[in-house]
Amino acid sequence: MSSQEWPLHGGQPAPLLTRFGLADDMPLLDASANLNPLGPPAWLPGWLAARLQGGAEALARYPDPDYRDARAAIAAEDGVAPEGVLLTNGGAEAITLAAALHAREHPGTPVAIVEPTFAEYARACAAHGLPVIHLGLEPPDFRFDPEAMVDALGEARLIFLCRPNNPTGTLVSRARVERLLELTAERGCRVVVDEAFIDFVGGDGGQAANEALTPLLSRFEHLILLRSLTKRFTLPGLRLGYLLAARETVCDAGACQPAWSVNGLAAALVAPLLADREFAERTEAWLVTERPRLQTGLAALGLEVMPSRANFFLVRHPGGREATRRLLPALLRRGVLVRHTESFMGLDGGWLRLALGDAASNKRLLSALAGALEAGEGAP
Ligand SMILES: Cc1ncc(COP(=O)(O)O)c(C=O)c1O
Repeated sequence: MSSQEWPLHGGQPAPLLTRFGLADDMPLLDASANLNPLGPPAWLPGWLAARLQGGAEALARYPDPDYRDARAAIAAEDGVAPEGVLLTNGGAEAITLAAALHAREHPGTPVAIVEPTFAEYARACAAHGLPVIHLGLEPPDFRFDPEAMVDALGEARLIFLCRPNNPTGTLVSRARVERLLELTAERGCRVVVDEAFIDFVGGDGGQAANEALTPLLSRFEHLILLRSLTKRFTLPGLRLGYLLAARETVCDAGACQPAWSVNGLAAALVAPLLADREFAERTEAWLVTERPRLQTGLAALGLEVMPSRANFFLVRHPGGREATRRLLPALLRRGVLVRHTESFMGLDGGWLRLALGDAASNKRLLSALAGALEAGEGAP
């Protein structure tokens, strides 16, 4: 099977159901897209409905092109200046803007991507005519060594690093990112850290705060942080993200962005979403309980599980790549969709990525896995 035929993202059951000869309307538990199972917040449909009633004024107005309210809310939460925030149409647009900015400053020069990771970095580079240097980290621990990375940078003037990383769930420590920033400053190479999953690092009694990169923004002008609100608040259909950087970088990245790129309803949602402390607390409580429980459950089934600081786990069958590959259709037949790894560099289908769901979904995932393993469908 060619990797081109596999869907590039989670949450796309149709091509997989077709590939494995299953009915396209089969009800599925989706453990392939990594979203907060507690969201969207319960008040959100009412909030949207109120704005769509009586003349739908919210739809008949252009949004503020500078998104001042949304940026102020993000700046307050992250402890940065509003001028250091660019609101984007999901984390995906923030990735594209980082590539666009690089293409404007250094057309045609290479970009380094720390692999295996999210496919959109390479796609954004291709769209902007930027060659890519893939810096592969090796299983079983995918250890990131800043010195080795910088030695392999070649002519690259931009590096994409995902933290915690999709699909491995590993979190490069702040100390290592700091070292990378010191080394790249000397070479004039920007560092883009995609923190789309940073809101799921918690579940550790507040330790995660010590690992925050936002304080580094004022020390390193070549650092760009990318964030997604889509995943944290379960809004993949509405889309919200942002970019944090030095003022000038935000200005230059903003110049690459289409006007009014974020719709007015999504932009107006930023402040109330960030103000919802109750949702944040429930998310934290879910992580504390469910992440270790699912990890233990997966290991008890005999699977090799990557320890994860995100809301997903990378797993593989001890029988190897083909045994792991066979688990995907076996789970699909049992009504559970998981994420293949055919398109992740160096993983080549030898692992599966499983999203952390609520208690009931995790139980269902474990039971489908147990069934598939017992039936020998993942056996070598
Ligand atoms: C690492 C990473 N960054 C960014 C995104 C895009 O996020 P959004 O849906 O907010 O555009 C994704 C989506 O899967 C992702 O995995």
